[in-house]
Amino acid sequence: MRDMTADDVEAVLAIEQIVQPYPWTRGNFEDALSSAYRCVVDEREGDIVSYAIVMPVLDEAELLNIGVAANRQRKGLGQTMLQDLLSWAVTHGMQRIFLEVRASNAPAIALYRKTGFAEIGMRRGYYHNAQGREDALLMAYVLTGEANG
Ligand SMILES: CC(C)(COP(=O)(O)OP(=O)(O)OC[C@H]1O[C@@H](n2cnc3c(N)ncnc32)[C@H](O)[C@@H]1OP(=O)(O)O)[C@@H](O)C(=O)NCCC(=O)NCCS
Repeated sequence: MRDMTADDVEAVLAIEQIVQPYPWTRGNFEDALSSAYRCVVDEREGDIVSYAIVMPVLDEAELLNIGVAANRQRKGLGQTMLQDLLSWAVTHGMQRIFLEVRASNAPAIALYRKTGFAEIGMRRGYYHNAQGREDALLMAYVLTGEANG
């Protein structure tokens, strides 16, 4: 895992546009890079295989985006990326990582559950989709105190 740079945006965007039904734009990634967000990529043998963007807010962090290249999915890379982010969060004294995910995004929800994220709420009609609107599931991983689940 390493920090994402401006030179990575092209490769990250190429993955994003294939794997995300509602992809971030180039500008979204550039804004993330120029902010205090944690932007990371996993590069293997010269290819970027996954990436993630996390927004730290005081002692909490929000996972804003995570993607794994289509031909590399279901090989544990998403979980490896999340574990790396959790380690980073512990090292930086974070109390909690949270995220919002489309209720229809079964693969991501399964990944988050498997990694130990718990559902903490729902925002009704939060996202636009082809049918109109869909709910956002709120999930959190507590890094201190009581264990998750
Ligand atoms: C969600 C995503 C990051 C998962 O990455 P991945 O590398 O394929 O996931 P992993 O191989 O680490 O999977 C870990 C576990 O998550 C669950 N999971 C992952 N993909 C799944 C799928 N398509 N269907 C059901 N469960 C799935 C499984 O429990 C899996 O463990 P298993 O393979 O032993 O059954 C990937 O599908 C992706 O990039 N999706 C598009 C982008 C996206 O939706 N991002 C999240 C919102 S920003």
